[in-house]
Amino acid sequence: MRPSLRALRRENGASSQVEAGAAAARLDASPATVKGTPRRKLYAGHALEHARTVDDLRAMAHRRLPDFALEYLEGGAEEEATLSRNLAALASYRLLPRALVDVAHRDLSVSLFGRSMPLPFAIAPTGLNGLFWSKADVLLGTAAAKAGIPFIQSTMSNDSMEDVSAIPGLRHWWQLYVFGDRWIRDDLIDRAGNAGCEALVVTIDAQFYGDREWEERRFAHPGRLSLASLVEATLHPQWIATTLRRGMPSFVNLIDYLPKDRRGFFESAFWIRANMDHTLDWKEMARIRALWPRKLLIKGLLNVHDVERAMAIGADGVILSNHGGRQLDWTISGLDALPAARGFIRNGKTLIVDGGVRRGTDVVKALALGADAVLLGRATLYGLSAAGEPGVERAIDILREEIDRDLGLLGAPSISALGPEFLTR
Ligand SMILES: Cc1cc2nc3c(=O)[nH]c(=O)nc-3n(C[C@H](O)[C@H](O)[C@H](O)COP(=O)(O)O)c2cc1C
Repeated sequence: MRPSLRALRRENGASSQVEAGAAAARLDASPATVKGTPRRKLYAGHALEHARTVDDLRAMAHRRLPDFALEYLEGGAEEEATLSRNLAALASYRLLPRALVDVAHRDLSVSLFGRSMPLPFAIAPTGLNGLFWSKADVLLGTAAAKAGIPFIQSTMSNDSMEDVSAIPGLRHWWQLYVFGDRWIRDDLIDRAGNAGCEALVVTIDAQFYGDREWEERRFAHPGRLSLASLVEATLHPQWIATTLRRGMPSFVNLIDYLPKDRRGFFESAFWIRANMDHTLDWKEMARIRALWPRKLLIKGLLNVHDVERAMAIGADGVILSNHGGRQLDWTISGLDALPAARGFIRNGKTLIVDGGVRRGTDVVKALALGADAVLLGRATLYGLSAAGEPGVERAIDILREEIDRDLGLLGAPSISALGPEFLTR
């Protein structure tokens, strides 16, 4: 039987007692219930307008996806302590509202790279989106363009860079994984330039693939799902109809770089994993900086010394991130690094953070701590997995409404009015 969402969250939150406490305080314990009454459950039906929160979209995604895809979406590395930390770090801050402030007008806009955008978040790069919905990268990009926010397309995406670039009005950023011979990354950088990408986001925390043990248990051996997983997948006809209608997704942007016998979906993913460049260092990053004339962000930093080095090689910004808890276990959260990192970010440079953002108050906390914007990873993927592009739009709308209300309740008329004085621990 599928574990309940509550049980799942309890598992995710149980890696250490302290973290379990913080996560439970946020997720499970409700002073409004007595022994399970009033009986409460998240919305997991089909009518998107009934999804009140990102968690409802999550419940809808859990209903629709087969177990192996769900495990890929949700899981973290090893004991999932890093995954828990992302929630616990957010939960460790409390808001300190100001009273009697005129908040009749609230401004949710921020400026990234000198360009204003109506919301303080962007969509994070995520690979294998084609497992959740057919043409998923185009759908995510389309929803982002409609909302006026950037979409970061992953190296491991399943739609072509050029198709995503063709989405009218999209702020299209390309996320680069550094793998294989040098000419491959150079070619991808060249293509991102030709496709008109505004920014290059080099992810540096996945040169070794995090050990997501729960996901691996779904496979008979690398590249082949277990019989039980295959049978379970057949119990999800809606997923089959909306995701596999054009066959298994493929890594269209990389296929030409791969050996001819390694071009199947799982085979290519495993080939790339095996060919990540373990020599990647600051010298190579400086070379990439020199190659790429537009905005350059380095994603996956957690140590302030590395933020300083990123500035020194001329990066335009950094993304503090632990990859959604999917890589090294027992790290801090990007949010934990934020206050100190701010001190190393020079004028005009950009500081972004991600990890565990599911609520307007999460966004508000990160911005009050000094982030210029946050990235949404799973939040928009829940929407995508629940209902395709309208689901992504619903996730964005929910967060927009929550942030707007939160600013009103906090007594902060704009994002720029936020600061650490609105927070306490
Ligand atoms: C299913 C999934 C796939 C991901 N794939 C990538 C990727 O290809 N490249 C990358 O830089 N980060 C990847 N990430 C990490 C996200 O960019 C982001 O850092 C993370 O999801 C933020 O945490 P959150 O999911 O709690 O919001 C992935 C995350 C998820 C959940």
